[in-house]
Amino acid sequence: MTEFETIIYQKQNSIAHVTLNRPHALNAYNLRMRDELYQVLGAIRDDSEVRVAIFRGAGERAFCAGADLTEFLTAPSPIIARQARWERDVWGLFLSLTKPLIAAVHGYVLGSGIEIALCCDIRLASEEVQFGLPEPGLGIIPAAGGSQTLSRVIGGAKALEILLSGRWIKAEEAHRLKLVNRVVPRKELLAQAERLARKIAGFDPVVVSYAKQAIVRGLDLSLKQGLELEARLAHSIIPLH
Ligand code: COA
Repeated sequence: MTEFETIIYQKQNSIAHVTLNRPHALNAYNLRMRDELYQVLGAIRDDSEVRVAIFRGAGERAFCAGADLTEFLTAPSPIIARQARWERDVWGLFLSLTKPLIAAVHGYVLGSGIEIALCCDIRLASEEVQFGLPEPGLGIIPAAGGSQTLSRVIGGAKALEILLSGRWIKAEEAHRLKLVNRVVPRKELLAQAERLARKIAGFDPVVVSYAKQAIVRGLDLSLKQGLELEARLAHSIIPLH
């Protein structure tokens, strides 16, 4: 286990557990968390023992209530703060990981909170979850991939409506929109995420990684290119396939 200030990173067997750990601030995403998340994502990528990762939030109230507004207001300028974020490219690293990532979200999932969940492949949510994108009301737009990832998951029109109206989404609607794969009682959230992670971790990691890549990379390709990608990946697992 590595010690961080804003994140708890634990490895149990082949499952990495990443807990956003600023419960006093509803796990708001600050610069320290950005730097630590970057290290954690690198560890998930590079550690061959890790086969799957689960992301969750500490405390009972939130997965993550978005960017830390106290930092946001004290940053030298929004442009410089955002420049720093891009240089670190946490989101590029997140989306490039070929191991399956599960988000187990509860409570407030706002701004960067939704964006972290959208960088994951499978989202489980507890019944009292609330999703929202408050950015336009703060005079900004999502910059952790959300404008691209949300629309790919729920479609452009719904993503626009949610972003532009500032409307918050509860569990039932999130499930209907396919923003989350499954809604579960709060007390079962982690157990269900772990059960799923164990199931995935039991398969051959190369097969799992290729299956993820076939689907995730394929979504950005034409059907013809996607089929070529699938063929290449399938052939490299079983050469005579
Ligand atoms: N950044 C920094 N601190 C935050 C935060 C954020 N994004 N969201 C919540 N907190 C802090 C609060 O300041 C408060 O701290 P305090 O106890 O020291 O006063 C603590 O977390 C609890 O939040 P509080 O606002 O008291 O809880 P609530 O139940 O009244 O409201 C929210 C919950 C989520 C509706 C409200 O905290 C909120 O609107 N947060 C900001 C969401 C946001 O705009 N995020 C930025 C997205 S880009």
